[in-house]
Amino acid sequence: MLFNDRIMDRENLINIEDRGYQFGDGIYEVIGVYDGNPLMLDEHLERLERSAREVLLTLPSSIDDLKNKLIELVAVNELVEGIIYMQVSRGAAERLHEFPKSDVSPVTVAYTRAEDRMTDIENKGATAVLTEDIRWLRCDIKTLNLLPNVLAKQQAVENNAIEAILHRGKTVTEASASNVFIVMGREIYTHPANNFILNGITRRKVLQLCDELNLKVNEVTYTIGDLLDADEVFITATKLDVVPILKVDNHTIGTGKPGEITKKVLQAFRSLY
Ligand code: PDD
Repeated sequence: MLFNDRIMDRENLINIEDRGYQFGDGIYEVIGVYDGNPLMLDEHLERLERSAREVLLTLPSSIDDLKNKLIELVAVNELVEGIIYMQVSRGAAERLHEFPKSDVSPVTVAYTRAEDRMTDIENKGATAVLTEDIRWLRCDIKTLNLLPNVLAKQQAVENNAIEAILHRGKTVTEASASNVFIVMGREIYTHPANNFILNGITRRKVLQLCDELNLKVNEVTYTIGDLLDADEVFITATKLDVVPILKVDNHTIGTGKPGEITKKVLQAFRSLY
């Protein structure tokens, strides 16, 4: 694993005074690895930089150094298929809510995990549940504060669903750990990238691919009614890539099978690796 600037054997390194542990005071990224290559690593690190800026955290190393270390970590661990998890907390210091003194440096941790591709679920599709979005108003920052996401995902799992689609009132925002797209007619709709959603790296790539495929995407808000009436629904996230959603709660979406547009987008995404 990577601990600050050292690659070392995995150990129990948690310091009870780490602010990530006590306050969720830190940021993170999850990066997919395909055939030994981290996918869209630069984009993930750019987002990490932005998250750091938004929570007033100064990254302890340059993005280039971090990138090299993560590539080295994948090589040392001989990871072929899986993910890199990395987080940077504001550091370990006596528990006081305010930022620690300037001599406390942020703590970076990263490790890899082998995971098979999700090909089967991407081909067959999955189901989702709907639940109220109870998160804070800066969902655009990828912070360690994930309790509302955890509660939502648990609700999904208890209902044999892959995801919990979140809504603020009638407006669908995203899902507990993925972005949501709906297809109505020939056009695609997804929540705009503002403070109510995390602007997924997969989401951004899908927007680019849709443009190349001449598929029109409207980055506008849409309602629960639109979601349930849609011809197709799909979610996007690192490693999940593009997963067709065939049922939301007890409501069948479209024909109940993965739709043509979703399949096109999935195929285009797969051509990236
Ligand atoms: N989650 N929205 C939320 C709330 C997320 O947590 C994620 C990713 C996404 C999709 O982002 P991306 O395409 O960059 O992975 C959207 C990661 C995978 C996680 O927390 O494990």
